[in-house]
This record gives sequence, C-alpha cells and structure tokens, in this order.
Amino acid sequence: MQELELKSTIHVCQMEELTADEQHLIELAIEATSRSYAPYSHFHVGAAVRLANGVELSGSNQENAAYPSGLCAERTTLFYAGAQYPNVPVRMMAIAARGTDGELTEEPTGPCGACRQVIVESETRAGQPIRILLYGRKHIYVIDGIRPLMPLCFSEF
Ligand code: THU
Repeated sequence: MQELELKSTIHVCQMEELTADEQHLIELAIEATSRSYAPYSHFHVGAAVRLANGVELSGSNQENAAYPSGLCAERTTLFYAGAQYPNVPVRMMAIAARGTDGELTEEPTGPCGACRQVIVESETRAGQPIRILLYGRKHIYVIDGIRPLMPLCFSEF
C-alpha cells in the first residue's frame, strides 16, 4: 500500500515581523471581537479582510438561541464582503478571539471546518491564495492560503 504524506507550512511570527498592512488587519480583527454577539458561548471572535481594492472590512460571530442559526466571525465577514463587493477578490484575512476570561487567546484561533470551506471558495473566486493571519498573544500564525489548513478539500464538481 502506498502512503501519501501531507505537509503544511505555517509561519510562526511576532507582531513586529509582520508588515504594516498585516498588523493593521490584526488590529481590526481584535477590535471586531468587541462587537461579537456571543451570550451563549462567551467566546468572542473577530475577523477582518483586506480586499484587492484596499478596502478593509471586519465582522464577528453572531449567535442565536437556536444555536445552529448563529454564524462564525469568518463567514460573517466573508459573506459581508461578498455582499458588498461581489467582484473584488479577498487578499488577506485576520482572525482573533477572546476566551471566556475576556482576554485575547494566548494561542491562535483556527477557523472551523465550515469556515475553511468558505475560505476555499473565496480563494477560488480570488484566483489566488488568501493570506491568513491567526492571532494569539504568544505568537501569530501566518499561512499562505487556506490549503495548508484544508488539504484534499472539495472545491469543484
Ligand atoms: N467561532 C467563530 O466565530 N469562528 C471559528 O472559527 C470558531 C468558532 C464562534 C462560533 C460560536 O459563536 C463561538 O465561536 C463558539 O464556538
């Protein structure tokens, strides 16, 4: 039997190693955590995207008493971007979260599977990888596109 080994590369960075644009997008994602509506999980997630035209947008998780009706910060933000700028590619996305203690998480928060799937499609629409910045107080993960987080993904039929 043959084995297929899958390799993903994630850059582990400190804030000062990032470009000014990247740092700014992270600040927007952090800010967006304060606009999260999370009375059930108390986990406040913020996301921010930078589009090819330079526009930056942010969003946060929005929960609902009927739990599945809520939406993650990443999808809120990407769908908002798609609704406002349907033909403008997304180039970069930052994600930050505050835990139940109200503090920004020490470790980076990764997008859930459903959000990864939506990011895959945003990349397809953009025609190039979306740079992903996952913020943690200890370090920031920088990933060149969603594929390293979503190997063997479903993208077309
Ligand atoms: N959440 C996000 O907003 N993004 C993720 O990638 C993971 C989870 C939200 C959903 C829910 O409101 C809360 O965090 C706890 O799962």
